Amino acid sequence: MADSTEVKREVWSGRTVFILAAIGSAVGLGNIWRFPYVAYTNGGGSFIVPYLIALLTAGIPLLFLDYAIGHKFRASPPLAFRRLKKSTEFIGWWQVGICFVIAVYYAVIIAWALRYLFFSFTEEWGDDPGGFFMSEFLKQDTTSNFGLDFVPGVAIPLLLVWIATLVILGFGVQKGIGASAKFFVPVLVILFAILVVRSLFLEGAGAGLDAFFTPDWSALTDSSVWIAAYGQIFFSLSVGFGIMITYSSYLKRKTNLTGSGLVVGFTNSSFEILAGIGVFATLGYMAAIAAVPVDEVVESGIGLAFIAFPTIISNMPGGPFFGFLFFASLLFAGFTSLISIVQVCVAAVQDKLGIGRVPAVVGVGGAATIVSLLLFPTTTGLNVLDIVDNFANNIGIVSVALVAVVTVTWVLRRLPEMQNHLNEVSSFKIGIIWRVFIGVITPIVLAYMLISEIVSRINDGYGGLPTGLVTTFGWVVQAAIVVVAILLTFTPWRRSDADLEHIPDGDNTSDGENTSDGENTSDTEKAGETS
Ligand code: ALA
Repeated sequence: MADSTEVKREVWSGRTVFILAAIGSAVGLGNIWRFPYVAYTNGGGSFIVPYLIALLTAGIPLLFLDYAIGHKFRASPPLAFRRLKKSTEFIGWWQVGICFVIAVYYAVIIAWALRYLFFSFTEEWGDDPGGFFMSEFLKQDTTSNFGLDFVPGVAIPLLLVWIATLVILGFGVQKGIGASAKFFVPVLVILFAILVVRSLFLEGAGAGLDAFFTPDWSALTDSSVWIAAYGQIFFSLSVGFGIMITYSSYLKRKTNLTGSGLVVGFTNSSFEILAGIGVFATLGYMAAIAAVPVDEVVESGIGLAFIAFPTIISNMPGGPFFGFLFFASLLFAGFTSLISIVQVCVAAVQDKLGIGRVPAVVGVGGAATIVSLLLFPTTTGLNVLDIVDNFANNIGIVSVALVAVVTVTWVLRRLPEMQNHLNEVSSFKIGIIWRVFIGVITPIVLAYMLISEIVSRINDGYGGLPTGLVTTFGWVVQAAIVVVAILLTFTPWRRSDADLEHIPDGDNTSDGENTSDGENTSDTEKAGETS
């Protein structure tokens, strides 16, 4: 084992690269395939009201809290929470467990997108995209819920996605994650902008946008619409499950945290609205060629990306190019988010064992790759993915975020300290309103979301699958995360107590880069001064 004091903490070269990486994490599958449908089914144009309120009262405030914890304690979630208060280390491991579970299925969807990128050129799905996706591509077993035959057509791209992710993570925070964000985020924006502009010129685009933006103001009186808005914001901004704690832990001492958070939050939401425009303009085209109302063609998630879009691609002039734009956007958006999710687990293992990045990437990434390959490229893979996704998002993230917020705010009463930390380094100062949003609004919303989700899972099961099976499997996964988190909490740290308590200087970089992007960098602060 390496002596931990030899393992210097990595650092972003400047604020710009951190912002790009944070945007890369936030802009993901949730933006492209989830937001348009959530907005459409929850009031259309009027959804913008609860959405913006959710962004301002919970999304951005929680982003600030994650930044404060990560930046003040300069560690992955378990060590950051331990430094906050020893007994709260468990919350950090819980977040790590959720990230691990999300990573193993999130990679699968990226692998599908990779395969479909190539399918688009030949319109491989022929005239039955739905049948092709379920039977020929995923080879789903429709007769039993337990088919476990291996599907190489999914496994091979999945392995490639994992290799690419681990190679990037192996290069480190700046040269791997930062450099890839500098490439992928601008490319994604360009590809997606071309796609949206192209979609606006399609026949029927106007009807699609009408359907998307037409407000249903009565929806604002429905609590489920508000829950949908808050749920969308939490997942989409990557807050509450350790990612932003990890990313902000690599920032230099003097970094404008709240200013960065505002840039990330508003960029993510702008991308989301752009996605809504692109997706609905395209669905308008689909409705026009099928001569049906737009509401008959609206789809979300997997159905939208892998069935509706292929159908449209086959029917439009220049379809393969449009397909390339769409699947490349999905691939790049998902990929930069996956990197951030796996990084949480890598950083936690590095901190726990005091080891270097490469062994941590090989260990954690290897384990995630194996689990991902065993569970999802099978003839039941789609159902497993669907259930794990639903539980991880709606129960896992929501419960750990609730516990973290209540612990910091009400149990430890450390919110003022976090506020001071943010204000010391940031341009945009926060005050009592931030504390009310974090201490009151966010926990109420999270608790309400959690209770309604649990009731609905118990009563209704999920997605037409047998209720007992779904709830059992979903809960077993959630319980396993908590059990593993407890075990990890009680596993001894392979570093001295002094080392654990010592908060490293954020400007000591292990990758040899300490160049500033020109913003807010300081080499003067001493290690440990905030402890
Ligand atoms: N924030 C990422 C997404 O929206 C995880 O997919």
